[in-house]
Amino acid sequence: MPRRPKVTESRTIGVSDFVDHTRSIVLSDSRNSRRLLVYRFIWQSDSVSATVPNPFSPTFGASPRHWAGRRIILDDFTRALESGPGSPTRSMVISGARGIGKTALLTELEDIAATRGWIVLRASGRDNPVADLTDTVIPGKILELDPPSRRKVSGVSIAGLGSVSTSTSDPLQPVPTINTRLRELLALLESTGVLITVDEIQDADAEDITRLAVAYQDLVRDRMEVSLVVAGLPFGTDRLLNLPGTTFLRRAERYDLGPLTDEDAGDVIRHTTDGSGIEFTPEAVETAVDIAEGYPYLVQLIGYLCWETAQRKERTVIEAADVDRERSEAVQSMGAQVHFISLKEVPAGQRRYLSAMAELGDGPQSTADVAEALGKTAGSTSDVRARLIERDLIQPAGRGKVEFTLPHLGEWLRGPGTVRRVQ
Ligand SMILES: Nc1ncnc2c1ncn2[C@@H]1O[C@H](COP(=O)(O)OP(=O)(O)OP(=O)(O)O)[C@@H](O)[C@H]1O
Ligand SMILES: [Mg+2]
Repeated sequence: MPRRPKVTESRTIGVSDFVDHTRSIVLSDSRNSRRLLVYRFIWQSDSVSATVPNPFSPTFGASPRHWAGRRIILDDFTRALESGPGSPTRSMVISGARGIGKTALLTELEDIAATRGWIVLRASGRDNPVADLTDTVIPGKILELDPPSRRKVSGVSIAGLGSVSTSTSDPLQPVPTINTRLRELLALLESTGVLITVDEIQDADAEDITRLAVAYQDLVRDRMEVSLVVAGLPFGTDRLLNLPGTTFLRRAERYDLGPLTDEDAGDVIRHTTDGSGIEFTPEAVETAVDIAEGYPYLVQLIGYLCWETAQRKERTVIEAADVDRERSEAVQSMGAQVHFISLKEVPAGQRRYLSAMAELGDGPQSTADVAEALGKTAGSTSDVRARLIERDLIQPAGRGKVEFTLPHLGEWLRGPGTVRRVQ
């Protein structure tokens, strides 16, 4: 027989109570003032139910449970929506390395727009964004806002027989374009607007982006309530924006996402566990922040691994040593999820340059030393170096020095350098 729990608190229930597994609570039903006794979900205060899901989300595209940082972008965007058509920050280009948080940021911006009543249209450069928007996404929204039953009936053929035709069935109707579709949608809105987000812009067809940019510019000229935010990897995004048809987007507000500050990364670690029954000590937070180096995917990953182990061992506190023990697993996972994919199409010569850099150690390396390690002169490796910078794998780090862009690439190259093979 389970022990009857001690009542520790009396309050009105909220959703958060269901994730707070560490306390027993008494619910007071505020309407009929009946008092209900609720048993705590877990008997022992020092163990956590195996059914509590891990609050960290080391998954690309997943929104974090606790968001931190990027305040400037969120504020600029909020202000842009509020300041009416014509605000330059209504068109934004967000670029950044893999896993730096582009998709999560797009979702945050979509939420900001949606809470202000804006319609959000989402597309990806991996599909055909213009065709998707024109043929599927916008018509879907139009149907939601204006179901066919509410549309104007344009004619009744024979009274009483119920045969009607609506204005949408005219065979002479012009073929819709992204521009006409957006105007159709905007015509249904009052004192609100339409936000279009396009993720993975680096994979988009140049012609597609040109068409989208031209349509968007046309709507802006007519002072329509629209906003366009695109996101992608830096090199691919730059390449696309340098094309003649995308001049307009080149003038959009550009944000390059860097690592989170230590304070923000610490906030994510600390607050993601809120109400989960497991928490990090301040020293453990510090250790996790050191390992993550401000890289959001790694913040989620290290948090996830530590939380998972603590749950398995029925522990409620994660210490610095526990975080340290997960370090190599985090580096290996990061390698498989991020580095392995980034290096897939890198030619052998560029790989050799990276390996030489890795062998020299972590931190910035002099380009002369890397060239020497390869048995070459600094001048003869400048082309390879430039290609690696373009690929966002390395970045200049002061005069005559380069460093890896993403954390732990050097360590991973020195170690397995490939994904683990399971027998
Ligand atoms: N500001 C943030 N606060 C907390 N966690 C974040 C933040 N930004 C991103 N993350 C987390 O980091 C991980 C990677 O984010 P996201 O998928 O948005 O990266 P990305 O830049 O879109 O990567 P990719 O280039 O592969 O598409 C996700 O688990 C996400 O929840
Ligand atoms: Mg993404």
